[in-house]
Amino acid sequence: MDVDKVRNDFPLYTSASKDFIYLDSACQTLRPIPVIEAMSRYYLEYPACGGRSVHRLATQVSIEVDEAREKVASFLGAERPEEIAFTKSCTEALNLVAKGLRYRRDEVVVTTDFEHNSNHVPWLQMQKSYGIKRRFVLTPPSGLFDIEAFKNAMSREVRMVSMVHINNINGTGIPAKEVIEIAHDYGSLVMLDGAQAAPHQKVDVDHLDVDFYAFSAHKMLGPSGMGALFGKMELLKTLEPLISGGGGVSLTTHDRADFLPPPERFEAGLQNYAGIIGTGVAVDYLGRLGMQEIMEHDLDLNKRATSRLQAIPNVSILEPSEAKHRGSILSFNIKGMSSHDAAMILDEIGKVMIRSGMHCVHPYFVARHLDGCARASFYIYNNENDIDRFADAVSEVASKFSM
Ligand SMILES: Cc1ncc(COP(=O)(O)O)c(C=O)c1O
Repeated sequence: MDVDKVRNDFPLYTSASKDFIYLDSACQTLRPIPVIEAMSRYYLEYPACGGRSVHRLATQVSIEVDEAREKVASFLGAERPEEIAFTKSCTEALNLVAKGLRYRRDEVVVTTDFEHNSNHVPWLQMQKSYGIKRRFVLTPPSGLFDIEAFKNAMSREVRMVSMVHINNINGTGIPAKEVIEIAHDYGSLVMLDGAQAAPHQKVDVDHLDVDFYAFSAHKMLGPSGMGALFGKMELLKTLEPLISGGGGVSLTTHDRADFLPPPERFEAGLQNYAGIIGTGVAVDYLGRLGMQEIMEHDLDLNKRATSRLQAIPNVSILEPSEAKHRGSILSFNIKGMSSHDAAMILDEIGKVMIRSGMHCVHPYFVARHLDGCARASFYIYNNENDIDRFADAVSEVASKFSM
């Protein structure tokens, strides 16, 4: 990866205040100029609504939205663009499926114990409202997914396996293809939360044969407040819209509404057109860099960071210790320090920006009586110098503040 070239596309790295180390891409990535320009172009040149008015500006919006949908479908390996519904976040996409299928009492939903609240709270609500049952695949101390525990959790009562593809705590993933095959053998549907996987590796929903795939745009160079859901067409047709209203229906009378076919039925209300267009440009940008190259780059940085942190007294890395299992994520704690204190001091002394706390995965930490961790996450614009400055800063914090 030619990081210097990549950095030229990111305004923060070419600005006067470029002396910073941004290692919080698992929360939100920085945005490249092509994405920002495409969004500005919408507001400057054709700020109209798509899919409704028929004048020339609106027609241009509709064409650009269609193109963005095609780009996202091709990026994910979906057969048809109509299998992609735009949402405002990965959270909304996950909720759409959790709340849009009709569940019967005692049907079971299987997740890991590593789920983001966005793939946990909706199921808790479904448990309360419809009496569904939950089963959790527990993560062993190795920090790796336990396929035998997953097999033991499966039975004919399982209606849905809804799992994080790569989690945002220790960066480990599930063997998606195997999990999907096993789940399908039991007649279960599978939804994957791809918020941390889609930005870093090639995802091919067709090859995986996954039923639903949710992700966020803002973790992969796209605009804030954008996400998307892939669903197999025959399943999308059975899904109740989470939000209903204008733009999602073909005709209504005083006592009836005819919904449009997917994906429009899920996109009621005026949409974030600039966001949709920016999302299309973001996936194009990633495609040009190459997902394989991105994955290798992130891992190389993680290996370097891991070996540096392993040598610092009083710093412990969340299992698994080997970077090869953790892709672009390195979570750690400094003995005797809260992760928030560590993050604030790293920013203060070294302009190193990381994330701290429970990362919206509260059940995982609560079950282990931990109050969180510090998390560094790496992406296409990070280089070895970033890693060294990060490690030097961690070393300084640990030597001065660890108790
Ligand atoms: C694994 C995972 N799932 C879901 C989400 C929620 O994504 P969004 O903010 O797009 O709703 C996140 C965000 O951090 C995440 O890391």
